[in-house]
Amino acid sequence: MPVKILMVCLGNICRSPLAEGILASKLPKDKFFVDSAGTGSWHVGHQPDSRSIAVAKKYQLDISSQRARQFKPEDFDTFDYIYVMDKSNYRDVIHLAKNENHKTKVQIILNELYPNENVDVPDPYYGIANGFEIVYQMLDEACNNIAAKLKATHH
Ligand code: 4NP
Repeated sequence: MPVKILMVCLGNICRSPLAEGILASKLPKDKFFVDSAGTGSWHVGHQPDSRSIAVAKKYQLDISSQRARQFKPEDFDTFDYIYVMDKSNYRDVIHLAKNENHKTKVQIILNELYPNENVDVPDPYYGIANGFEIVYQMLDEACNNIAAKLKATHH
């Protein structure tokens, strides 16, 4: 059984598709399964935002076959680790948790870089032009730490 990791943002079209693609590229596929979801439903079935696809491509990652889906309560049982992009995602996901085991699976992703600081990955959707590049770099650094930890824990 592979270890399962879920990346969560609001729309599942900008940040979490990048996080999924980046983390998956750093882990062996036979041992780890990485997916992503959004707390909202507006973009269900949609491809990642073209700006996320473009910045991923710049770093040799193809995320274009991903399709957005909404986070569902059963994800707490399916996944071993759930990383959220910001404090708002954290509140929305924790609200759906049914027990303490569910809650302990949920972490704010940048706490992997800045422990206990609860720093948000900014939503780049309506943001500045290089917002997607900034988000990519933040997620790449965080995923380096996550991948190292996961490989050390599950070998
Ligand atoms: P994401 O960005 O949460 O990083 O996928 C968003 C994209 C679209 C919307 C919200 C967030 N939206 O409300 O349409």
